[in-house]
Amino acid sequence: MTDARPAREDSLDDVARRTALLDSIPDVGLDTPLAAQVATDARRHAVITGSSFVRPEQTRVFTVANQKGGVGKTTTAVNIAAAMARAGLTVLVIDNDPQGNASTALGIEHGSGTPSTYDVLLGGSTIADVVQVSPSSDNLLCVPSTIDLSGAEIELVTVDSRETRLREALRAYLVDRSRSGLPRVDYVFIDCPPSLGLLTVNAFSAAAEVLIPIQTEYYALEGLSQLLKNIELIRAHLNPALTVSTILLTMSDIRTNLAREVASEVREHFAEQTLRTVIPRSVRISEAPSYGQTVISYDPSSSGALAYAEAAREITRREAPSSTTTTNRDGQA
Ligand SMILES: Nc1ncnc2c1ncn2[C@@H]1O[C@H](COP(=O)(O)OP(=O)(O)OP(=O)(O)O)[C@@H](O)[C@H]1O
Ligand SMILES: [Mg+2]
Repeated sequence: MTDARPAREDSLDDVARRTALLDSIPDVGLDTPLAAQVATDARRHAVITGSSFVRPEQTRVFTVANQKGGVGKTTTAVNIAAAMARAGLTVLVIDNDPQGNASTALGIEHGSGTPSTYDVLLGGSTIADVVQVSPSSDNLLCVPSTIDLSGAEIELVTVDSRETRLREALRAYLVDRSRSGLPRVDYVFIDCPPSLGLLTVNAFSAAAEVLIPIQTEYYALEGLSQLLKNIELIRAHLNPALTVSTILLTMSDIRTNLAREVASEVREHFAEQTLRTVIPRSVRISEAPSYGQTVISYDPSSSGALAYAEAAREITRREAPSSTTTTNRDGQA
């Protein structure tokens, strides 16, 4: 879709090309809503394909969490990762949920017995042993999850370093890649189950940033204070660098008053963290996983894919919170 480059600004050539493209899209009267929507999406597509994605100075590690089920955690993790990878960044998704939905959406083999997050947490495997490349992109990597992970919450209770196993494994993997001359991983997204158990604690310990997807519906904020309280506990005891850096409003039906009200309430409480981009409810987004794809590869010009690409670009353009990265340029702590 775009080239990743270290610069924050687009080149003059890029800007000129994009401006010409945008000028070529006809303006449409407001009396034809469908055509207006098509023209708007064409403009957004031209803008997103023409703009650069900023490569971070250091690997940024996000945990995508919300103990509320079905709010768009997995959809957000895989689509933002895919949009970044399509733009040329190297991205790793760690599927840390026994449901394995992120592995499915990325087209990754994850039948029972496949080397997976379970083996990393409990079997002594390294991430390099189990990581797979997504069929959609060479620079989109995934640590799969299998049903075996469903026992991990209980099995972890009695082992040493039960809260920090994922952190140690990720740290070692990033250092090893750097030593072997492999491209640095720019972004890591850890997809969590809808609970605050040891799997999620491991994800919070391994990340510097938390991305919370919030569905714009009634009860959206319910449970959020519990989530924030748990994050505070993790900060106090396991990972002082952890910050809720990003909130994304998902599955929004902007035509309803309720969605607008929830969105404004979230923005009131979390003005800095909430992305400007809102993800609309979209059939294409929900269809994509059944083809083993993200919506970014399934239908890149659909409004859902555009929204996720815009959210991904917004994340890359925001600074990582200061002193929150768990790894330096070499992937070391
Ligand atoms: N923007 C969207 N428009 C339409 N459907 C969506 C959208 N985002 C997610 N969905 C669908 O909603 C369902 C829940 O999404 P998802 O699996 O991402 O949530 P989750 O928070 O990861 O769920 P869980 O808590 O079970 O892990 C899925 O069927 C997904 O395809
Ligand atoms: Mg999920």
